[in-house]
Amino acid sequence: MLENLSELPADKIIALMAELRADPRDNKVDLGVGVYKDASGNTPVMRAVKAAEKQLWEVETTKTYTALAGDPAFGRALSGLVLGDAVEEDRLAFAAQPGGTGAIHQALELIKMATPEATIWLSAPTWPNHPSIIRHLGMTMTEYRYFDNGTRAVDFAGMMDDLAKVKAGDVVLLHGACHNPTGANLTLPQWDEVATLIEDKGAVVLIDLAYQGFGDGLEEDAAATRLLASRLPEMLIAASCSKNFGLYRERTGLLMAIAPGPQRKALTQQTLAHLNRQNFSFPPDHGARLVQMILDDPALRADWAAELEEVRGNMLGLRAKLADALRTRTGSDRFGFIAEHRGMFSRIGATPEQVAYMREKHAIYMVGDSRMNIAGLNDANIDILAEAIVDAGV
Ligand code: LMR
Repeated sequence: MLENLSELPADKIIALMAELRADPRDNKVDLGVGVYKDASGNTPVMRAVKAAEKQLWEVETTKTYTALAGDPAFGRALSGLVLGDAVEEDRLAFAAQPGGTGAIHQALELIKMATPEATIWLSAPTWPNHPSIIRHLGMTMTEYRYFDNGTRAVDFAGMMDDLAKVKAGDVVLLHGACHNPTGANLTLPQWDEVATLIEDKGAVVLIDLAYQGFGDGLEEDAAATRLLASRLPEMLIAASCSKNFGLYRERTGLLMAIAPGPQRKALTQQTLAHLNRQNFSFPPDHGARLVQMILDDPALRADWAAELEEVRGNMLGLRAKLADALRTRTGSDRFGFIAEHRGMFSRIGATPEQVAYMREKHAIYMVGDSRMNIAGLNDANIDILAEAIVDAGV
């Protein structure tokens, strides 16, 4: 049987992690996988997470199963963080998932059950695991223009032109904030135009929200999702706690499904539980419980939000410093977009050859499409990177 398997294409982000690990040089600069690192290169456990874990150890008396959709208290807490009061409770179904990837996968399975013929529209470019999962599920996909390689900003006119071809029932996957891999994001008035277009087309939006709090702030980064949620009759949201709670390996995420009314909410809720049962039965609970404890406890929540603000501020500071270093070296403002982009990533517009050159000559690791993880920078390597970018002729 196993001889029938064939080689699968490697995920370029995961492959880069392995390459980095295998590189013996001690001057490596890791700007690859989207993991936050502080100035000394550590990915810390957040203070509120540690405090909640301590509390949990004291009070937890059982590890028995929760519910198929996870503990509803987690769903209520995280959907509150994402949606505020944009959607009435009797329209919102949700189920805990193993991370943001789990939530995206489950959203696509739900779409496949409901409308197998739907085309999924992806931004060009998008997170490489989006098309990979869609292909794995045997679904149809196409792309809409998103990033202007010249300006390194959103090609909004191109995006709207392409989305004008969306058919009723098609699914448009949008990054709610902090677009991955580009770092270029829509303005709120542009989101409003997107909402109008989707309404007119009768399409369905699937939001991937993996970096809430990493861009302009917790509320600001949820604004687009809330705007769409308050206008569209149906919508899916895949939220991840990997980054903003630093819970990467705990696999903590939530799939939310907004229904037009209570009846379809009930049907959707039942379907979400069914899908969990088919795929993994009960979702992981540890990370979800920590998130719920933090969000429901005012002191823990305030401390978590404050630390997240520090993280966000650090990344903005690094963006500004890198843009400055490049301004000094090039005598131009053509890398000014790095300070304008938001979230963990910027796509700097280098060719694959230039990316490979920077890796070989300067031990700088960024994804082949020239996505770099801003959090991999620090005061010691910003100048090295700026030098390498200029040396590579980007
Ligand atoms: C990334 O894009 O680097 C992160 O979302 C991590 C991952 O799973 O790819």
